[in-house]
Order: sequence, then structure tokens, then C-alpha cells
Amino acid sequence: MTTFHERTVSIQVNVVLRLAKRSDLSKLEWYGQYTHFRSIYRRTFQEMQHGNRLMLVADCQDYPIGQLFVQLRSSEKQVADDGRRAYLYSLRVMEMFRGLGIGSRLIREAEDIVTTMGYSWVTIAAAKSNAKARQLYERMGYRIFADDPGEWSYTDHQNIVRYVTDPCWLLEKRLNIR
Ligand SMILES: CC(C)(COP(=O)(O)OP(=O)(O)OC[C@H]1O[C@@H](n2cnc3c(N)ncnc32)[C@H](O)[C@@H]1OP(=O)(O)O)[C@@H](O)C(=O)NCCC(=O)NCCS
Repeated sequence: MTTFHERTVSIQVNVVLRLAKRSDLSKLEWYGQYTHFRSIYRRTFQEMQHGNRLMLVADCQDYPIGQLFVQLRSSEKQVADDGRRAYLYSLRVMEMFRGLGIGSRLIREAEDIVTTMGYSWVTIAAAKSNAKARQLYERMGYRIFADDPGEWSYTDHQNIVRYVTDPCWLLEKRLNIR
């Protein structure tokens, strides 16, 4: 057998943080991993066009390898309150790109955007089962202020209603004290 010595090559790639465009929607399914969220992505994109939400993506070579969505208003004022409090949610980074700072940069970028829009508070949820996410948010200045049963539902790509129960902590942060 031919011996092959591993060789490490160091390649620099740019990751661009930007708002989602329509052509990102199918790519956000991440080759089938999130196909069940197809209708959520479409609706969130429409909501962005109506000024109710933001879809922030981390783009690498025209592929969204990370995402963070922002809800700008809600009937639940402790979560999002028009012009005052924005809710950051659906944060994820493709597994092979984790631990490189992309997740925290997405959060900082969202904070900067909503600060510019005049918001003074941000809220984020961490599943109670996800201690690492909670630690990451606490490191970034978020503090727990409530808990939530985390019950919600969505319609998947096969038109089946899926029910989710994921109890979570709600954390908040006052903006511009970074
Ligand atoms: C949470 C997540 C977006 C962080 O993205 P990232 O690009 O790796 O984040 P950063 O590189 O900026 O920060 C890395 C830190 O995130 C922490 N982290 C938070 N949640 C994590 C998770 N579910 N899996 C692995 N690491 C996680 C790591 O512990 C790491 O901290 P460390 O540097 O002390 O080890 C990413 O881990 C992920 O997509 N996880 C799965 C989805 C998820 O759990 N989302 C949060 C919902 S509450």
C-alpha cells in the first residue's frame, strides 16, 4: 500500500454576515437537515419584507453556513416589543464551522442592527437542555429573567403539523453596554 503523509493546508475564507436573500431559502435547508422548516423559512422571509423580522445569515462562498433570526415585534411584550425589545432566535451554525466565532459574531451583528434601529433590549432563549448555549449567551452579557415551557408548532414540508416542547430559559441584555 502506498504511504500517504497527511498534509495540512491553511486556507483563508471570508464569511459575510448579511440579510438573507430569496435564493438562500432552499440552501437554509442544509442539504435536507432542515427541510422540515421550509415553510418557516418562507414565512420568515415574507415577514422580513413586511418589516416584522430579520433573517441574518453567515455566508461562505454564497452558502448560508449560519443563521440567526430576529423578531422585531410580538404580542408577548416580554419577548419582543416594537421599537424597544427584539427577540433573537433560531441561531445555528453548520457543525463543521462551529467554534470559530461565527455564532457569537451573528449575535453581535444582530445586536448592532437593532441598536441602530433604536431598540434598547434584546431577548434570547436557551433550551434548558442546552447548557453550552446558555453559557455562551451569559458570556456575552445576557442574564436569565424568566423561563418558558417552549411549546410551539409548525407545519412541515409535507403539510403535517409538528408540535415541539422544549422548555427554555429566557435571557435578556440591555444594549449599548457592551
Ligand atoms: C450555538 C452555536 C450557534 C454556536 O455557534 P459557534 O459558531 O460555534 O459559536 P462561537 O464559535 O462563537 O462560540 C463557541 C461557543 O459556543 C458554545 N456552544 C453553545 N452551544 C453549543 C452547542 N449546542 N454545541 C456546541 N457548542 C456550543 C461552545 O461551548 C463554545 O464555547 P467555548 O468557546 O467556551 O467552547 C452552535 O454551536 C450551534 O449551531 N449549535 C446547535 C444549535 C444550537 O444549539 N443553537 C442554540 C439554540 S439555543
